[in-house]
Amino acid sequence: MAFPTETVYGLGADATNQDAVARIYTVKGRPSGHPLIVHIASIEQLNKWAKNIPEYAIKLANFFWPGPMTLILPRTEIVKGFITGDQDNVGIRIPEHSVALALLKEFEVQGGLGIAAPSANRFGKVSPTSADDVIVEIGDQLLEFDQLLDGGTSQVGIESTIIDCTKENPIILRPGAITAEMIKRVLTIELKQGSISGGDLKAPGLLESHYAPNAKVFLSGSLKPGDGFIAIESQVTPAGAIRLASPKDNIEFAQILYKALRLADSKKIKSVFVIAPQGEDIAIAIRDRLQKCAIKNKLKEFSS
Ligand code: TXA
Ligand code: MG
Repeated sequence: MAFPTETVYGLGADATNQDAVARIYTVKGRPSGHPLIVHIASIEQLNKWAKNIPEYAIKLANFFWPGPMTLILPRTEIVKGFITGDQDNVGIRIPEHSVALALLKEFEVQGGLGIAAPSANRFGKVSPTSADDVIVEIGDQLLEFDQLLDGGTSQVGIESTIIDCTKENPIILRPGAITAEMIKRVLTIELKQGSISGGDLKAPGLLESHYAPNAKVFLSGSLKPGDGFIAIESQVTPAGAIRLASPKDNIEFAQILYKALRLADSKKIKSVFVIAPQGEDIAIAIRDRLQKCAIKNKLKEFSS
C-alpha cells in the first residue's frame, strides 16, 4: 500500500512478511540489500523492534515523534535481515500524518507490528509528495489488490532526518526537517555528522545519483533560454528561463522542490538551474538533496 506521510509518500508492506517486502523492491526497482525504515504507530511499540536503546535516543523519540525523524537502533529478533540489509540495526519512525497514523493504528489493531516503507518512487528518482506523483512513479506496477491512500500534499516535502543511534554519540546520516540545531537543543550529548553512504552502515552507494529528475540539475553555471529555474521568491528570473517555483522561504522551498523538479520533466525541460537556499535550517537538507541529484550530470559526463 502506498500511503502519505508528512515527509514524502511511502510504499508500505508488513515489515514481518518477506514476500510483501520483496514486492517493494520489485515495484521500486531497488537493488536488494538496501535497508528499509519500519514505521510504527506509537512509542510503546518501539521495544518490539529495538533493544539497548541509548538514553539520548529515548529523549529524541519522546521529543520529535510523531515527526520527520528516523532513528537507527540495535534491532530485536523479530527484525529480519530482509528489512535491514542483514545488519544488526533497524531504522524506525513514527510519521506525523493523520492518514499514516490511522493506517498504522489499524494495522496494529489487526495484529500487525510495523510497516516497512521506502519512499514510493522508482529507485534513484524524485520522491513523491502527492498521490498523483505516486501514480506517475509506480502506477504501472500496481496490481489489483494494491492500494494508494490519498492524503493530500506532504507538508514537509523532503525525507526524514536519519540519526544513527547505535554509537555512543548520535550521528546525523541524512539531514531533514529536524535539524542539528533542533537536536542540540534537546540533547546534552555531542551530536556528530555522518553520511548515509559513508561509515559502516549499509546504504545506497556513493556514486549513485538520487532524488534525480530526468532533467539535468545545475547548481551553478550559465543558463540558456528554455532552461528551468528554481529559486527563492526574491531572486529575479533570468531572461529566457522558465520559472518552475518561487518559494517564499526555506520551509516552502522544501515543500515544493520535488514538485518543481517533476514539473520540469512534464514540460520536457532538459536542464534546470537551482539557486540553493542559504541558511542552517532545513536549507541544509535541501542542499544535500540538490547535490545528490546534481551528481547525475557528473556521472553522465564520465560515461560520455
Ligand atoms: O521520510 C522518510 O524517511 C520516508 C518516509 C516514507 O518515511 N522514507 C524514506 O525511505 O525516505 P527510503 O528507503 O527512501 O530512504 C531511507 C534511507 C535509505 O537510504 C536507506 O538505505 C537508509 O535510509 N536506511 C534505512 N534503514 C537503515 C539502516 N538500518 N541503516 C542505515 N541506513 C538505513
Ligand atoms: Mg527514497
